[in-house]
Amino acid sequence: MTGRMAGKRVAVIGAGSVGAGWGNGKAAAVLYAREGAQVLCVDRSEAAAAETAALITGEGGVAYTCAADLTDPIAANAMAHTAQGNMGGLDVLHFNIGTSVKGGLDDTSFDDWQTVFAINLDAAFHATKACVPLMGQGGAIVYISSLAGMNNGPYRYIGYEASKAALQRFSRSIAIEYAPRGIRANTVVPGMIDTPHVAAMIAPGQDMEAVRAARAAQVPLKRQGTAWDIAEAALFLASDAAGFITGVDLRVDGGMGTLMGTSAG
Ligand SMILES: NC(=O)c1ccc[n+]([C@@H]2O[C@H](COP(=O)([O-])OP(=O)(O)OC[C@H]3O[C@@H](n4cnc5c(N)ncnc54)[C@H](O)[C@@H]3O)[C@@H](O)[C@H]2O)c1
Repeated sequence: MTGRMAGKRVAVIGAGSVGAGWGNGKAAAVLYAREGAQVLCVDRSEAAAAETAALITGEGGVAYTCAADLTDPIAANAMAHTAQGNMGGLDVLHFNIGTSVKGGLDDTSFDDWQTVFAINLDAAFHATKACVPLMGQGGAIVYISSLAGMNNGPYRYIGYEASKAALQRFSRSIAIEYAPRGIRANTVVPGMIDTPHVAAMIAPGQDMEAVRAARAAQVPLKRQGTAWDIAEAALFLASDAAGFITGVDLRVDGGMGTLMGTSAG
């Protein structure tokens, strides 16, 4: 097998997509496989995981599925057990899942706050804790964050903003803790990306094309990103080409963070 990920064993958490088309996790899983990796497609939706795995095997790649809700530490351990059983270990953990509830402090309930933190941060803790023992001496972890973790946008998503900022800080802690074992940890920080996740979030009756145009207009490169833009950045960070890179936040945002005055990443 040739390719930038030849011989690598990858687990993608959130490998499905909430709607038709290419979500970030789905594109990443398919791209890792196209580059020669075996991929464990993990998703709380068994059907979504199976759809991505079928895309991979349909292209001649190697994929396995695992239905697991990563907010549950027992499910995270079972997922790691599946990775060990199917692939004999793990070289890359790609943590894609994330959710948001619109609102600032005033209109965010503690339940909503906890739901967002459970998926965006607690699940990253569970996945990392379960997967690091499978990596031996060397590996890579890629967490998918959001520009909202670094900057205030036009709308308030207080739980999303705070949990994504914490995810990036968590990634840097993991980078330092596991550097002596050769395990690298980095985040990809997407800006405005045109995915089924965004389409699923728009209000009933809203014109999707108008939403797309409004989002693209905010980006210096004058377009939204695609799931493939995110997947390519993750692939680079996960691959040996990034062998001396750990603890970084790589913005993939068409310049939006620069426009907003982000000081790092
Ligand atoms: N689209 C954007 O504009 C944008 C911008 C910034 C950041 N992001 C980030 O991208 C990521 C989402 O990308 P996507 O397009 O793949 O989204 P998606 O919503 O399609 O999610 C992918 C999969 O994750 C699964 N999932 C959700 N919660 C889970 C859980 N607890 N356990 C296991 N699986 C779970 C879903 O079932 C779904 O199939 C998030 O981290 C999000 O914050 C997206």
